[in-house]
Amino acid sequence: MKFKKILASKYPLILAPMAGVSSLPFRIISREFGAQYAFLEMVHARSLSYGSKQTMELLSTNENDRPLGLQLLSKEEEYIKSAIKRLDEYKYKYDMLDFNAACPVRKISNRGEGAGLLQKPRKLKKLLKVIVKASSVSVSVKIRLGWDNSDEACEIAMHAEDAGIDVLFVHGRTKVQAYKGEVDYAAIGRIKKRLNIPVIASGNILSAKRAKQMFDETGCDGLLVARGALGNPWIFKEITTYLEKGILLKRPTIEEIADVMQRHFDLSVECFGERRGVVRFRKFYVWYTRGVTGIRPLREKVMRTITKEEMNKVIEKFRNEAHPGYGLTSHTILS
Ligand SMILES: Cc1cc2nc3c(=O)[nH]c(=O)nc-3n(C[C@H](O)[C@H](O)[C@H](O)COP(=O)(O)O)c2cc1C
Repeated sequence: MKFKKILASKYPLILAPMAGVSSLPFRIISREFGAQYAFLEMVHARSLSYGSKQTMELLSTNENDRPLGLQLLSKEEEYIKSAIKRLDEYKYKYDMLDFNAACPVRKISNRGEGAGLLQKPRKLKKLLKVIVKASSVSVSVKIRLGWDNSDEACEIAMHAEDAGIDVLFVHGRTKVQAYKGEVDYAAIGRIKKRLNIPVIASGNILSAKRAKQMFDETGCDGLLVARGALGNPWIFKEITTYLEKGILLKRPTIEEIADVMQRHFDLSVECFGERRGVVRFRKFYVWYTRGVTGIRPLREKVMRTITKEEMNKVIEKFRNEAHPGYGLTSHTILS
């Protein structure tokens, strides 16, 4: 599906690519709450071109998990080409191919991949041209504003557009900022003004009010929701309702959270099997229970949980014993 179809919606909301997080169960839950597009976890072009078992597992999907974006990390043309070829050979179904020029992790960016490419806009353009030529689906890039300042943000974005991509995602921070500090709305706005392709903004979309601020101050065409969706799929509905009707929805009740947690956990076991399903769900339990008074003992228990039965029990304990004073999550504090 062409990305423009998603943009036909007034406020496109997309579940951001998040390594180690945006797996199939989380994508399914986010879509149920209104995410209109979702990304797989980032894959390295080299591992994909070798077809490593671990990488292929990251690509698990199903027919309801669409439209779907696949994000590649690399700095080498030959691996990019062979990764795309491998996806074609597998007849792998996805809707957009994104290229990562944003990852700030030192061991990645220092070797010239991810955010490392922000220091070489011409190389980035060259790689993007290779992807555009080889890909049968829409192509996008995810950038940050720069390495340590945003002076060249527009130049980087324009080089990317020149390569023939369809969409640009921009995280409104520099590589040096990583995930902390202010989001530079003005810099995103400047990029939006200069480009002809859609610009989707990322950074601190932690509440409906923050989402509105991003649209208002940058004029962007859509949003990537990342940390704001962790243990908080309600955010998609909250943003849409606020933007369309000006209404701030009430935070979910303990009962509602427990229901969604249980469904998320069941999907996790279904996708990964009992052992890995439990381990992968542990961090989501912590996120779902953020801001809940007196939750510490249950969280500590979750970290030692191994079986499905044990996890079901801690979810039920949360349902029955969580303090009714719930209501202040970090998301609402940030709004
Ligand atoms: C755990 C985690 C993993 C992430 N992994 C990726 C990734 O693989 N690729 C990517 O482009 N961005 C990744 N990001 C960045 C997000 O997509 C997003 O741009 C960033 O978190 C800023 O948005 P936020 O402030 O609303 O969280 C990751 C973020 C987090 C928190």
